[in-house]
Amino acid sequence: MKVLIFNGSPRKGNTLTAIKAIENGIESRADAADIEVKVIETEGKNIIPCRACNACGSMSRCIFADDSPEINEAVEAADVLIFATPVYWWGVTAQLKLVIDKFYARAAKFKGGKKIGTVVIGEAELDDAEYDIIQKQFACIADYLEWEVAFAKSISANKPKDLAADEETLTELEAFGAQL
Ligand SMILES: Cc1cc2nc3c(=O)[nH]c(=O)nc-3n(C[C@H](O)[C@H](O)[C@H](O)COP(=O)(O)O)c2cc1C
Repeated sequence: MKVLIFNGSPRKGNTLTAIKAIENGIESRADAADIEVKVIETEGKNIIPCRACNACGSMSRCIFADDSPEINEAVEAADVLIFATPVYWWGVTAQLKLVIDKFYARAAKFKGGKKIGTVVIGEAELDDAEYDIIQKQFACIADYLEWEVAFAKSISANKPKDLAADEETLTELEAFGAQL
């Protein structure tokens, strides 16, 4: 099984803590040796924003030279995709959105047969709107690409070390990794 994890945060904070907990869960499995885990740090990737030129329709890759073809190849090869992102202005971070927009180049090849998990982390309380907005966005993307949503977790945490002190949530994230 190939697991591809996207870290949407530019800092070493709560999203990274969540990813490490999921990885710990994966490592705890009896079949861990058969699982390949790759984390893509969206911060620092060279992704030119989609210009809607549609050249990718015939090329199956972006016409502009950036890191998106390599990322899309990893998405295509993955069995499980995990999107972990902070909330920025009621949405996913720009770094992650740039990556997702480039799925356009290979959407037909991505269809079906994958599971996804989402982790959305914001400062606001969990009854605030951003969590529903973002989880709905991921649910719509999964529906369109015929992916199964294995888990969708929203977390309220703000300072970089907040989540590290939340044992209950970390245990839940580990369980997601253990049960994928
Ligand atoms: C530019 C910016 C915009 C943000 N917008 C929101 C928001 O709309 N809602 C929210 O709950 N938190 C918002 N936050 C807070 C972050 O989501 C929160 O600090 C989160 O824990 C950051 O995750 P990280 O530690 O993995 O980077 C914002 C933070 C930044 C820097």
